Amino acid sequence: MNHLIGMKELEKPQIEALLDRANAWAERPGEQTDILNGRFVANLFLEPSTRTRFSFEVAEKRLGAHVLNFTAETSSTTKGETVYDTLRTLESMGVEAAVIRTKENQLLQDLAGQVQLRLINAGDGTNEHPTQCLLDLLTMKRYFGKIAGLKVAIIGDLRHSRVLGSHLHALPKLGAELILSGPPSMMRAKEEVPAGVKTVDIEEAIETADVVMMLRVQLERHEHALFDTKELYHQAYGLTLERAQRMKKGAVIMHPAPINRGVEIDTNLVEAEQSLIFTQMSNGVPVRMAVLETLMTGGESKWASSLQMASF
Ligand code: CP
Repeated sequence: MNHLIGMKELEKPQIEALLDRANAWAERPGEQTDILNGRFVANLFLEPSTRTRFSFEVAEKRLGAHVLNFTAETSSTTKGETVYDTLRTLESMGVEAAVIRTKENQLLQDLAGQVQLRLINAGDGTNEHPTQCLLDLLTMKRYFGKIAGLKVAIIGDLRHSRVLGSHLHALPKLGAELILSGPPSMMRAKEEVPAGVKTVDIEEAIETADVVMMLRVQLERHEHALFDTKELYHQAYGLTLERAQRMKKGAVIMHPAPINRGVEIDTNLVEAEQSLIFTQMSNGVPVRMAVLETLMTGGESKWASSLQMASF
């Protein structure tokens, strides 16, 4: 594996290997290593981010890498330099991997064949967000002990969600049942939804799923206001306290965040007992360590063999 572009490109065994490696790191919280000692990784966030940016930086530092943080506003991209020329520049200085967030769908796919350094997709437009998907999968697997057979409902702004873009590929590959629900105006294009993924009303989604994953309404990507008030959206498509009471026994709440409290989810549910939202955030670090280690060492580091790599 040279790059992590999307879940679409990964085979089931590759996903499972990354999850096993991430699980091993999750079992060793805070451990500092020298796997990438002296090697340079650049973070290029061309769109805002809190979780992904900081958890990549924590992961890079825990692996011992030198971390370069690129700031678009003070870089030569403001003078018209392309992302390709920026990457070639970094490459010429010995940077070995670039973590990229961009608003351009599939930019990384186009760049992958043109550069030597490893590319990691930290979210491209409305296309994919593979490391968020992997940390969601790790969270499910550590909680339920499995992914195959789980029923996962993803609810909300399906049209703009790159997290959904990755799960549309990953969950069916791993044997989970994926159902979708949201306002008609926020549906994913039919051709992007694999056969076997059903769209259902919100009550069915919430009442039948093992995992209820709520998505933020991405107002910044909507051209027109879709609901008169946040309260109207909350009542029609949100995880209200009343709907949460009708979740299956043992079901959990997830959300990739950032969260709009009181819009897609009642504020009291964010940190409720059945919520794994902050566990998802914790799992971002081990997942990103696993991705960086796999891409930059081919999974052959001395640490890999010393970690417990058996499937969990
Ligand atoms: N989940 C996620 O990608 O969050 P950020 O936009 O804060 O990175």
